[in-house]
Amino acid sequence: MVLVAPSMLSADFSRLGEELRRITDAGADWAHLDVMDGMFVPNITIGPSVIKAIRKCSDIPFDVHLMIQDPIRYVRQFAEAGADWITVHAEAEGDVSGAIGMIKDLGRKAGISIKPATPASAVEQYLDRLDLILVMTVEPGFGGQSFKEEGLQKISELRRMVDASGRNVLISVDGGINRDTGRRCAEAGADVLAAGSYLFGREDMAEEIALWKSSFPPARY
Ligand code: DX5
Ligand code: ZN
Repeated sequence: MVLVAPSMLSADFSRLGEELRRITDAGADWAHLDVMDGMFVPNITIGPSVIKAIRKCSDIPFDVHLMIQDPIRYVRQFAEAGADWITVHAEAEGDVSGAIGMIKDLGRKAGISIKPATPASAVEQYLDRLDLILVMTVEPGFGGQSFKEEGLQKISELRRMVDASGRNVLISVDGGINRDTGRRCAEAGADVLAAGSYLFGREDMAEEIALWKSSFPPARY
């Protein structure tokens, strides 16, 4: 069964705690939390203090996507704030390998994310320490953009790479995910669907999540 991770970037930021409860009640598997520093991407969002504040509103895993230039500086703060999964970008300027090591040392699940122009091969060097690969199917920075079709090919390629490794690494996809693109990503081998504007735009988010979980191809691997 696919895991569904609504992206809180599309939530009402004036009521983040309530919105987190809402996605939890709607059947979300994880809460996807987008952290942007205004350097790695042009936008600025939330930091560890906000994540810590909303941690008490739900027990679902926090899937923290760090779109920041030098993640190693902040990994500990995010772990202490309550992040369960911490994903850093392969394209970040800082010590990406060191950041992954620190995430693991702190007992959290480690992910690496790649932007649309970054090849699947960029994650290979980290594979033996990873728990998750996050494929961006839009340019990181903003919600509500259109899905880039090239991502499907990359998901299939990563699926083969992960299966060949024999390791239990989840493949997640983020950007422009709706009912149609989500299904196609699951068919291509994605295990986790992070979706913001589409899910938050549904009148009945619970019904949509239930549909995805019941009718999309299960993780076959
Ligand atoms: C974009 C973020 C995404 C964003 C996705 O940089 O990483 O998580 O919330 O939003 P949608 O689903 O609207 O494309
Ligand atoms: Zn994200």
